[in-house]
Amino acid sequence: MKNTPVNHQIVKEVIDKYGLPDFGKATIREVVAISTELEKETNTEFIHMEMGVPGLKPAQVGIDAEIEALHNGVASIYPNINGIPEVKQEAARFIKAFINIDVSPEGCVPVTGSMQGTYASFLVSGQCTPGKDTILFIDPGFPVQKQQLAVIGGKYESFDVYEYRGEKLQAELEKFLSKGNIAAMIYSNPNNPAWFCLTEQELQIIGEMANTYDVIVIEDLAYFAMDFRKDLATPFKAPFQASVARYTDNYILQISGSKAFSYAGQRIGVTVISDKLYHRSYPGLTKRYGGGTFGSVYIHRVLYALSSGTSHSAQHALAAMFKAASDGTFDFISEVKEYGRRAQRLKKIFTDYGFTIVYDHDLDEPIADGFYFTIAYPGMSGGQLMEELIYYGISAISLSTTGSNQQGLRACTSFIKEHQYDLLEERLRIFRQNNS
Ligand SMILES: Cc1ncc(COP(=O)(O)O)c(C=O)c1O
Repeated sequence: MKNTPVNHQIVKEVIDKYGLPDFGKATIREVVAISTELEKETNTEFIHMEMGVPGLKPAQVGIDAEIEALHNGVASIYPNINGIPEVKQEAARFIKAFINIDVSPEGCVPVTGSMQGTYASFLVSGQCTPGKDTILFIDPGFPVQKQQLAVIGGKYESFDVYEYRGEKLQAELEKFLSKGNIAAMIYSNPNNPAWFCLTEQELQIIGEMANTYDVIVIEDLAYFAMDFRKDLATPFKAPFQASVARYTDNYILQISGSKAFSYAGQRIGVTVISDKLYHRSYPGLTKRYGGGTFGSVYIHRVLYALSSGTSHSAQHALAAMFKAASDGTFDFISEVKEYGRRAQRLKKIFTDYGFTIVYDHDLDEPIADGFYFTIAYPGMSGGQLMEELIYYGISAISLSTTGSNQQGLRACTSFIKEHQYDLLEERLRIFRQNNS
């Protein structure tokens, strides 16, 4: 038996107890449960890299606005389902300031996090046109979104974009879209789990394909402006956050308060529906709801049925954070750059001890350092590596749970503490000795 930082026998017992058919396919929550239990039983600190939870303080400007709104009595009143005017106007202004796209406040709709935004988007997109009932995932992606489709009994198809970057993306997209069953396609940019960023050329291809095949693009900007290779921090000044909205009117953007503003606990974000899509009617929606446009069905039928709107005070918080960012008085990007600094240090330690970065380039440019990165170790599958690292007190999730065909793990930088860089190095030294 190998000499490992966490007692080998106890790890085996705890993993066995969970009765998982394949540990490599364990969900994030299962990995958290196992690593937390091991931490307690063996009294050994774990380096937690499995959860994508913001590890920074929430934006103060949001907290102040929310407290003020509560003092003003908003808690007793149902919020307008369309969203309060302040958040709608400030969302549209924020989008102009940081993406340089024009959208009416009408189409900027608060949601209880992007999770709700994608859920409602999947529902409405899949109901627009008879026969167009399938969502295409440009993977790797955020596993819970496929879970959302499982909940509603929706269909999806997917492909790993690893092999199809740049011009190759067009033929691959056409392969799926030309069949006529795809209602919408979704990706995150920067990408969860791999942190690559689709380039303007790739976004142009996606936009043009959406126009050709009349497909809706759901662009998940959960990690808004976190491509730290570019200086995206100055409002109303280039460069801007890359977006498909420059290339098609068939778009829905999901902008989350969770990561950019470290506001995950209050469950707030906005769904942004293009003006054209908002006002378009579809035969499937008319038949099902007796009328309405994409935007009105999204808000007055679907969001109404799901949660009857979004917490009133959190809308005030988001409005204040958007406003301060657009006014240039709140530099949210410099706050979240901490994730990039952590990734740079962690990637160096992993590669020094024989690991490789799996998704390492955006075409000819090395990927940015940010919230996540991906690692592999020669000769080990993702599942094997995930299990092996548990013995060293390091927890991460296998890429196989994200729709990736690559062997490796997703590591998240958000929970890393200052003293853990040395700890990681010490443990990887033993890992390499044991595995070479
Ligand atoms: C790609 C992606 N989309 C959406 C979300 C969820 O965002 P929210 O907290 O706004 O629901 C996450 C959170 O991890 C994410 O990684």
